[in-house]
Amino acid sequence: MRAMERARLEAAPDAHIPLFHACSGVQWLNDPNGVIVHEGKIHVFYQCNPYGVEWGTIHWGHMVSEDWLHWQHAPIALAPSAPYDRDGCFSGSAVVRDGQFELYYTGNVFITPEGLPDGLLQQQCVAVSDDGIVFHKRPDNPIICAPPEHVGQTNHFRDPKVWVDRGIGYMVLGTKKDNKGKVVLYRTHDWTHWEFVSTLTESDGTMGHMYECPDLFLLHDETVLIFCPEGALVEPSPRCAGYVIGQLRFIDGAFVHGPFCKLDHGFDFYAPQSVLDAHGRRIVIGWMPMNGKALGKSWAGCMSMPRVLTTRGDGVLRQHPIEELRALRDREFVVRDYVVDADSAMLLTAQCGNCFELIVTIDLIDTDAAIVELHLCSDESGTQKTVIRYDRTRHEVAFDRTHANGPIDGWNRNFGEDDQQGFAALHVDATMGISASEHTEDVPLWDRVRTYRVQEKHAAALRWHIFFDRCTLELFIQDGEAVMSGLVFPHPDAQLCKWVSIGGKTAIRDMRYYALRDPKTI
Ligand code: FRU
Repeated sequence: MRAMERARLEAAPDAHIPLFHACSGVQWLNDPNGVIVHEGKIHVFYQCNPYGVEWGTIHWGHMVSEDWLHWQHAPIALAPSAPYDRDGCFSGSAVVRDGQFELYYTGNVFITPEGLPDGLLQQQCVAVSDDGIVFHKRPDNPIICAPPEHVGQTNHFRDPKVWVDRGIGYMVLGTKKDNKGKVVLYRTHDWTHWEFVSTLTESDGTMGHMYECPDLFLLHDETVLIFCPEGALVEPSPRCAGYVIGQLRFIDGAFVHGPFCKLDHGFDFYAPQSVLDAHGRRIVIGWMPMNGKALGKSWAGCMSMPRVLTTRGDGVLRQHPIEELRALRDREFVVRDYVVDADSAMLLTAQCGNCFELIVTIDLIDTDAAIVELHLCSDESGTQKTVIRYDRTRHEVAFDRTHANGPIDGWNRNFGEDDQQGFAALHVDATMGISASEHTEDVPLWDRVRTYRVQEKHAAALRWHIFFDRCTLELFIQDGEAVMSGLVFPHPDAQLCKWVSIGGKTAIRDMRYYALRDPKTI
């Protein structure tokens, strides 16, 4: 805690630190952990390295809010201290039982169990608290030492997500066997002995070598299982977050489910965790990873904005910005029925600020442009800009951050160099519509441009709902059909916002802009 306090005192002011996204603002942050709503308070714990801007010595940081907008820093909740977690208190979850908080987490130790590579021993542990602030590790830790040998490996066995159903405790965990990722289900009746129930889902080899951060919940009578496959061949980046939907038979853990779908089609959204709030909303937040060191920052990473999940029973999740964000709306302007002429640009505003919301409906029947572009955080010359693009013939939305970054050297390479090897061959296939000549410098195309193909081919309108918070951009497409999230680091003065219509005209039916207030001022 002292290290965090010192880092806070020493940190230089930074115009890229998000205003309403949950964020520690100093040192390293990764996965959201133990997200829980209890007695009107939202607790978000998180993977934290109090000693630097890079991953290491993983603790559990803690933030508390009452509205998802104002966040207060609470003391570090878990620190590596016991023989079973001396090298990290890895990801996990929280439940409240009989008024007591319980944090379930993975104790990580850097040793190599016999016959296994990677030098990790991972076991499941629990810490308890009466006040939700000070936690004590239970004396009977670790509570689960290993998966059954034929099921998983002790070197990759982590991220317990626990829930209670009619007094029975359930836990999902990520693991691997023979280089195939899987999610396993455990159960307890006495909260001391946990029995292995089943393997819920497993990679066929193409879906990755390890599944991280599983989460399971019911949504309108369907079972949703979220997880993060590492090294899936269908994905151009090393890791992604996604889900399958199906029916789970709790008695024997049989789970019949549909195909894997991505939760986010942008760059930076990983290790999400969901919570059911008092209004019955299933809310999910994820980690927006950031290479603080390469960017020269004294902080690294923040949480995504909270999203409400719904389904229409069609096997697809829809995601909606949480309503609480409306409280931040300030200055507004609205444009209706405006046509941007062929091969010209329309300035929306020269000063869109660094924290804003934009809701747009493009009339696709009256639009005959081949490409429609929205330039955000652009400078006068247009050399710096973050581009949201629609390719009408491909029905494809692109989030292009090739020219997004202003004052900083370095790129937001989120993962280590090692992670990126072996993926180069996939880049070109996965970035439809971008010519190979645009592959500049040493930043791979998939780390600069991401695309999403809109489901309805002949949609009459294209709807974008964009939130920008100093460095985070989150784009909701077609009322929650898909989300694209990513970090960009524009010069704080690059505030131009304009439309560009290429190869025909663009009919903007409706556009609403809101400057968003800093929650600290309201
Ligand atoms: C996901 C993850 C988890 C692990 C944690 C360690 O980002 O790798 O699987 O528990 O981070 O910080």
